[in-house]
Amino acid sequence: MTKYRIAVLPGDGVGKEVVEAAMIVLEEIALDAEYLYGDIGWEFWCKEGNPLPDRTIELLKQTDVALFGAITSKPKKEAREELAPELRDRGLEYFSPIVRLRQEFELYANVRPAKAYPVNPLNYRDGINITVFRENTEGLYSGVEFRPVSDNIKKALSVHPKFKRFMDVPSDELALSCRIFTRKGCERIVKAAFDYAEKYDARSVTVVEKPNVIRETSGMFVEIAREIAKNYPGIELWETNIDAQAMWLVKNPEDYDVLVTSNMFGDIISDLASQLTGGLGFAVAGNIGDDYAVFEPVHGSAPKYAGQYKVNPIAMIRAVKMMLDYLGEHEKAERLESAIEQVVQEGKVRTYDMGGSSSTLDVAKEIAKKYRGE
Ligand code: IPM
Ligand code: MG
Repeated sequence: MTKYRIAVLPGDGVGKEVVEAAMIVLEEIALDAEYLYGDIGWEFWCKEGNPLPDRTIELLKQTDVALFGAITSKPKKEAREELAPELRDRGLEYFSPIVRLRQEFELYANVRPAKAYPVNPLNYRDGINITVFRENTEGLYSGVEFRPVSDNIKKALSVHPKFKRFMDVPSDELALSCRIFTRKGCERIVKAAFDYAEKYDARSVTVVEKPNVIRETSGMFVEIAREIAKNYPGIELWETNIDAQAMWLVKNPEDYDVLVTSNMFGDIISDLASQLTGGLGFAVAGNIGDDYAVFEPVHGSAPKYAGQYKVNPIAMIRAVKMMLDYLGEHEKAERLESAIEQVVQEGKVRTYDMGGSSSTLDVAKEIAKKYRGE
């Protein structure tokens, strides 16, 4: 028996290539682990009508952690058209497998460190080191949506005076997406953010919402943040609105340490933070729950680059780094981080996004070399 069982889900397009790169690095790290490959992605939607087959869920349940590459998703109509003909009339709906994984495994903390590696030509500015804690299981991603909005739902909503002006809108001309927050959901993400801030000696945690307008959901989130902040006297709680925060991240990004926010706002603000620190080639996410975690690069499957071994594998290799930390392999994690730093700093082996012409696997090999100490 190995110490760890790690699920590997390459997915589609460049997902496969960056996972191959990650495995080069993992081979060098020589973790006492068994790697179990699982099916996920567009191919399985087309062939089986499910991009996340049950056997993959079962596989994940037998592992400690998963590494995930990337998948292709397409709008409703196209998804239906690409289904195998025998599956087409079954009323199957495409649902993002990564969103499903986050919810089914209760991976409530989406942790996105945006760090400006020294001398990265893609840095918007040096000295940025922001970690976004994005709630990962509820909010606008709850999936409770209606179109058309039937009469019984309209009736239920009519208890609210502000719904009056929508009452006469025809059902098929109304769409409704529910932003659902729970106390438990808010508490655990805020707590995760503060624990992280404490561990890394961060000065502040900024709660980013919009309670002046979205009074109930954002309001509850901020209230809970204030309660929880009391348990961390050494860390300042800052409160900002999501729109202003977007401006301030461009104006003075160095001032922020840890940001904590709900699902949709976190999706948006973490892309902004990523773009300040290298863009998609660097953007990484840990989907972390109490019992399981999935680590992934934020980028998609990039169909236009698939098969070319062109994309930057650093985001995926940072996912390996985060996984090592999650497993408690901190020494290996730090050594890997320093290997990445050295490769970025030397700038000899770079993919196209950084102005170079090296391949995905060349970058991985160079990082492995630095890990070895060469
Ligand atoms: C992300 C992505 C996903 C999300 C998509 C692919 C469903 O944008 O991980 O940020 O919206 O969460
Ligand atoms: Mg996103």
